[in-house]
Amino acid sequence: MSKTIAVIGLSWGDEGKGKFVDFLAQKADIVVRYNGGNNAGHTIEANGVKYKFKLMPSGAPLEKEGVIANGCVVDPKVLLEEIKNLKNLNKKINLKLSSTAHVIFPFHRILDGLEEKTKGSYAAGTTKRGIGPTYSDKAARWGIRVFDLINPDLLKLKLEKLFKIKKELINIYDPNWDTDLDTIYEEYKSYGEQLKPYVIDTAYYLNNAVDSGTKILFEAAQGSLLGLDHGFYPYGTSSNANALGICAGTGIPPKKIGKIIGIVKAYTSRVGEGNFPTELFNETAHKIREQGHEYGTVTGRPRRVGWLDLFNIKYGIMVNGVDKIVLTLLDALHGINPIKICTGYELDGEILESWPIQSEIIENCKPIYKTFEGWDEKTREQWMEIAEIGYKALPEAMKVYIQTIKEILKTEIAMVSIGPDRKETIVLENVSF
Ligand code: GDP
Ligand code: IMO
Ligand code: MG
Repeated sequence: MSKTIAVIGLSWGDEGKGKFVDFLAQKADIVVRYNGGNNAGHTIEANGVKYKFKLMPSGAPLEKEGVIANGCVVDPKVLLEEIKNLKNLNKKINLKLSSTAHVIFPFHRILDGLEEKTKGSYAAGTTKRGIGPTYSDKAARWGIRVFDLINPDLLKLKLEKLFKIKKELINIYDPNWDTDLDTIYEEYKSYGEQLKPYVIDTAYYLNNAVDSGTKILFEAAQGSLLGLDHGFYPYGTSSNANALGICAGTGIPPKKIGKIIGIVKAYTSRVGEGNFPTELFNETAHKIREQGHEYGTVTGRPRRVGWLDLFNIKYGIMVNGVDKIVLTLLDALHGINPIKICTGYELDGEILESWPIQSEIIENCKPIYKTFEGWDEKTREQWMEIAEIGYKALPEAMKVYIQTIKEILKTEIAMVSIGPDRKETIVLENVSF
């Protein structure tokens, strides 16, 4: 069996993937991003330093080798900024960038905003980072890839063609929009020169690494429910933000993907639009948002919050083939009493067996809740002390919450998290490569 572990968010993103990629990276050799782009925001806290990454794989604070594989879309400016920031922190950059990842251009970002306006009530509330339009160009087979970016002649040839059509398209929405092709070309040529030292054929590289027993972590961006094929379409992103995306996004065949760890937040959050049946709007929502610092890393938007939805999580366990789960942000629920969990749904008097998929029907589904006693508020220092002692020191009501989740999901809980720092982690079952 290959020595690979995938870390996947089982909800709508921001489950704490970054923290656990960093945690597991302590024993890994390579960390691989395989989907999405700088729509992601992954936060890591370790040794008193807070890192926020949009593109860099989350092994960077530990100076682990990072791979941005072919399934990603890359805004070169953002990547170069992250490299610079890490260098300023005296971190060694150990990065490999796929020659076949697609490149985000300014016109993609503009189109992202214009398309959203046109979609009206079907808009997902995107991060406006050009993710959808760049993946659209990839699927239409006229996208510009990293290989083109680092070859100025190819870049010029392809950019001229793409720019012409994009300009005409943008002008349909906004007749006054104008920009200069040469400026974009010169800017991107310079990005290509700077990124060239990192560019390789990552599929070949990673397959060799897997075959020689290298310990590899796959870091999903976004969450399973935002996934293009198995998420809440159209209110999601444009990549397969789940374990299914690993193979196409890296070139590693399915039989070489090892363990799958699903990250689950103790409640639910969502940024952007779309169904959220367990959403809360009252004081409780406000308290959870503040205690969990639920504001988007990328856009700063307040995240929508609601009760944990185990019907959703079961769906995530199914499509990802999750082996074990990690429960995060349990501390952020302190002082909330009672706490609820959605265990299923009712539609027209019938109990649902699986999601009806169409957002218009999900709208009419009524959550069925199980109610729990909450636990008292504690200071950060107290949570730190509890983490040091371990599981037995957790509040009794939290233990009931954790054990009930495990029973309902019929899935082992590998770790629980009671604070953002690497140390604020309690291991219940070792996850080994
Ligand atoms: P990701 O996108 O899945 O990597 O998650 P984000 O980093 O966007 O959002 C998770 C936020 O919660 C980050 O600010 C983390 O530092 C923080 N976090 C992670 N685990 C915990 C936890 O157990 N408790 C608290 N209070 N914060 C956590
Ligand atoms: P991480 O990796 C939460 C959401 C956006 C929007 C939809 C589509 O930090 O968990 P896009 O810009 O991708 O076209 O937006 O997806 N979204 C995220 N929500 N966490 C993320 O990433 C997200 N990336 C995209 O808010 O609803
Ligand atoms: Mg995030």
